[in-house]
Amino acid sequence: MSTSPARSTWSSRWAFILVTIGSSVGLGNIWKFPYMAGSQGGSAFVLVYLLCVLLVGLPLLMAEIMIGRRGRGNPVTAMLNTAEETGNSAWWCVLGWVGMLGALLILSFYSVVSGWIMDYLYQALTGLQVETAENARQNFDTLLASPWRLGLWHTLFLAMTVGVIARGVVAGIEVANKILMPALFLILILLTLWGWWAGDMHTAWHFMFDFKAEVLTPSVILAAVGHAFFSLSLGMGAIMAYGSYLDRNSSIANTSLWVAMAGTLVGILAGLAIFSLTFRYGLAPSEGPGLILQALPLAFAHMPGGQVFASLFFLLVLFAAWTSAISLVEPFVAWLTERMGIHRYAAAWGTGLIVWLLGVGVCLSFNLWSAYKLFDLDLFGVLDFLTSRIMMPLSGMAIAIYAGWKMGLPLVREEMRLEAPMFSLWFWVLRYIVPTGIVLVFCHVLMPEMSK
Ligand code: TRP
Repeated sequence: MSTSPARSTWSSRWAFILVTIGSSVGLGNIWKFPYMAGSQGGSAFVLVYLLCVLLVGLPLLMAEIMIGRRGRGNPVTAMLNTAEETGNSAWWCVLGWVGMLGALLILSFYSVVSGWIMDYLYQALTGLQVETAENARQNFDTLLASPWRLGLWHTLFLAMTVGVIARGVVAGIEVANKILMPALFLILILLTLWGWWAGDMHTAWHFMFDFKAEVLTPSVILAAVGHAFFSLSLGMGAIMAYGSYLDRNSSIANTSLWVAMAGTLVGILAGLAIFSLTFRYGLAPSEGPGLILQALPLAFAHMPGGQVFASLFFLLVLFAAWTSAISLVEPFVAWLTERMGIHRYAAAWGTGLIVWLLGVGVCLSFNLWSAYKLFDLDLFGVLDFLTSRIMMPLSGMAIAIYAGWKMGLPLVREEMRLEAPMFSLWFWVLRYIVPTGIVLVFCHVLMPEMSK
């Protein structure tokens, strides 16, 4: 099979850990996890989530890295190479395709949402003023109503993302993550301390950590599995592509454990920082845009030094989103350069153009095109549903089956290089628990009332 002769390799194991954490830590951790945890069981939810990460997320993360490293190529090539090596059908490469295309679909709306964050960063730097909850809501609605404003930030964000990719794996992706991720952690710690000092950390702590097992319903548990999936960037070939640049000697298991832990830690710290402020100013906790773009700005407006805090906060979210977006473009760009022989520069900007067009559609779905619906969902909703609810679980399932049942024990053992009991445990979980977990989530998605 064709792989380019001189493939890039991350400069160290830590570089790989950092870029993978960069992919994993994104909007999901910062604007979804804290509220899910707080409202759906507190520390009981955090424990369930950690269990989901350990039983479904981590084993799959390891499998994706393994396939990428063994296959030495973009998701399609990696699947073809490993399928050939293990005597499996070349059809398994469809999995690579689903991942690569799914990643681009995700990016088209991820970029628009990241654009909102940039708009708010700009507002924060130039003095964001919202006095009342009504103001805050209007401010957000005005943004959504303006295709030009949405489009401008979407364009800028995508250009930033593609610009990094165009520079290459080490000079682009690795360097960007080496700057952005430490900065992200630094800002996060600073904001948590500030929240502790200026906010109501006590209530925030209780909101996120009180053990409320009675709130845990099957549907909450399934939501936790789904979130473990999204937040670890699984099933879309992103991790496979990153894994393909990993050197032969690094331990996949160790590395994955770091990534899983870091993502959860970021979610918890972000939650404490955010909720200590929202509670201090008597605002209701919520999630998503309502939390980050409406409740928080209101808190910022009332706190001393709010403008500085707000600017740092939106910078934090932007860095998290940026490093995640980068990992969504890499699989396809790698395919274009390796299989099609297209120069990396052209491949990156060409891919950017395709995603940009789709993203423009997403921008319009909030205003001019808001009347066009499919199953009661606008374009944004359709893309989100299709990718995170259908493509990700299906392709995650296929990866688990491929690595667990098809690749064969000798090769998998050779690639993982885990001690005996740990290896057997991982392999067993990958073969039985992961597929079961995914099937349950999938049923839950298709028949929501079933699991209530
Ligand atoms: N993990 C990111 C987040 O939590 C989103 C993301 C980045 C992603 N790359 C991915 C999701 C690949 C699925 C597949 O925001």
